[in-house]
Amino acid sequence: MKTISINPRTCTQCGICIEICPTGLIIQSNEGIPVMPDEVGNFCSKCGNCEAFCPESAISPVFDTKHADTPKENIADIMPGQLGTYMQQRRSIRNYKNRKVDRALIEEMLDIVRYSPSGMNNQPVRWLVVHDPEKVRKLTRLTMDWMRDIRDGDNMHPLKPMVPALIAAYEAGKDPICRGAPHVAIAYAAEANPMAFTDSIIALSWFELAAPAFGLGACWAGFLKIAASEYQPLIQELDLPNGHVLQYSMMFGYPKYKEQNIPGREPSRITWK
Ligand SMILES: Cc1cc2nc3c(=O)[nH]c(=O)nc-3n(C[C@H](O)[C@H](O)[C@H](O)COP(=O)(O)O)c2cc1C
Repeated sequence: MKTISINPRTCTQCGICIEICPTGLIIQSNEGIPVMPDEVGNFCSKCGNCEAFCPESAISPVFDTKHADTPKENIADIMPGQLGTYMQQRRSIRNYKNRKVDRALIEEMLDIVRYSPSGMNNQPVRWLVVHDPEKVRKLTRLTMDWMRDIRDGDNMHPLKPMVPALIAAYEAGKDPICRGAPHVAIAYAAEANPMAFTDSIIALSWFELAAPAFGLGACWAGFLKIAASEYQPLIQELDLPNGHVLQYSMMFGYPKYKEQNIPGREPSRITWK
């Protein structure tokens, strides 16, 4: 299978693509031009690093793929301090404005997130965006039903000691599950893929990190994740495609409050050898 094409007119035979290919599939041909033999093409992870690092832009994919819209000249250097502040300012957002986020904006964020790394460049993550706030409220409601079952049941669920307080908060009019957020993003993937969970966590981390740049805030929805992985009514409500399972969930929307300070954290624990 052919996955890349190398333009012999623009290739300068610098050898960077040969060095950079993670699986060593690109070799020097007798004529000097690098080549990925068709018979090893099946092993190509389609990571595009040969294309990305080619100084002459001589390499292009011949498989179906969607490039980023980012024009080259717009790529600015980000100073470490700026990036550090941006990342350290990220907070879990648990209070939201009563305002929906346009689908186009969510699509723009997910268009960035599709560049997050994945094992062997498998790109297994699919998205279910619960955009209708009423449906988000239903997810909370069903999670509370699941918690009542845990509270009333005989089995020793690990969350049993915690659920009475959450039920009480819900019954007092609060939303301890989706925090009144208008939307929930659910990363899901094929059940059979053993790396999909890690890839989904990375993708959601990107989503959460990208959110403030779009004026948005997000928060991991951990209780929803656990409930939606084991409670049939929630599994049915999400109705993911056959053979696919929820990997993790995240609430998001426009933050009601703006963070003013950066709180402290444990110092880095580093061992050097
Ligand atoms: C895997 C995971 C699950 C989480 N689940 C919830 C949750 O269900 N509800 C919630 O309010 N926060 C949840 N959080 C947010 C954490 O409480 C939060 O990240 C932590 O307190 C640090 O605060 P910060 O994100 O503002 O730095 C979760 C975070 C992670 C990473």
